[in-house]
Amino acid sequence: MPTATFEKKLDHIVTTFKILVAAHRWTAERVVQALAPFGYLLDVQTDGLSAQKALLESPPHLVISAVDLPHPDGFTLLRLLRSNPKIADTPFMMIVSGTSPDEEIRAFQLGADEVVSDSTSDIAFRARVRVLLRLSTYRTRLQNEKRMLGILVAERTRELTEITLAMVTALEKATELSDVETGGHILRVSSYSGLISEELGLSSEFCEKLRLYAPLHDVGKVGVPDHILKKKGKLTPEEYEEMKKHTLYGYELLQAAKADRVACNIALSHHERWDGSGYPEGLKGKGIPIEARIVSVADVFDALATARHYKPALHPKEALNMLLGELRHLFDPMILDAVQRRKEDLLAIHSKET
Ligand SMILES: [Fe+2]
Ligand SMILES: [Fe+2]
Repeated sequence: MPTATFEKKLDHIVTTFKILVAAHRWTAERVVQALAPFGYLLDVQTDGLSAQKALLESPPHLVISAVDLPHPDGFTLLRLLRSNPKIADTPFMMIVSGTSPDEEIRAFQLGADEVVSDSTSDIAFRARVRVLLRLSTYRTRLQNEKRMLGILVAERTRELTEITLAMVTALEKATELSDVETGGHILRVSSYSGLISEELGLSSEFCEKLRLYAPLHDVGKVGVPDHILKKKGKLTPEEYEEMKKHTLYGYELLQAAKADRVACNIALSHHERWDGSGYPEGLKGKGIPIEARIVSVADVFDALATARHYKPALHPKEALNMLLGELRHLFDPMILDAVQRRKEDLLAIHSKET
């Protein structure tokens, strides 16, 4: 027959555990008698309301409650525990009257981890208490590991975001240095694209990506020879074919840098047109990725409203009217509707960032 000392040896983790004992006086005294020699911190409450208060104010590692706890009963305490996300995982042992199988079934249905009766021996009772406290330890350990994992993931995500930002900034600079796109154009295309994507109701994560990657739409121009890029007059058909390749160069560059799919799609397809007349693949309608459809509208609007070395600027309102009028067939109608709704905001961005 195991002695109390033997049980103590088994219980190397028990001394710091706090147990809430919620029962009317004579059951509570029996529980205290059975557990007191083992060093548990016992918080005894002899009515339901005090037990609820103690449970919420100082959550224990284990709750042992009698069904017939007065005002309100043990079932109410169990329900309260399981419905509160902060303490819902706390192990719960219910003490039922030895002659009531209905109480036992109900206790399990409400989420009790263990049910004992008032006729359970002290040794069996303590063994079950130990099992539940181990359960509590494992749950706590699991929660801590989950929290640590969350911190690690957040840290890695932050590092990755920093690397991405550094890469995007470096590539933006490269585009600027190639002397074909000004910093202002890059910023405005990013702002227009962000605004349009928000108006379309796309997810905030996607809108953020669009703002981040839209500036890279022409990054492939670094691969086009200077005499073509900076040519003052009209390009010959051969030169124009070479110029069109900036979409492929940009795509290849971003693919090689393992950039996000959204960035690669923008670089490759921002010259595709809704009616299939664009390049490099002649994609049509919704076959063009949405990110490229948005950036193409933003890019063309800004190009029309900005002076380039080969053409004067249109008034921004005129540029928008042209986009929504004679050039309408080139763009996604859904995006043009969004442009129409946010006309004023687009014009405000133009005047602020020019
Ligand atoms: Fe382009
Ligand atoms: Fe552009």
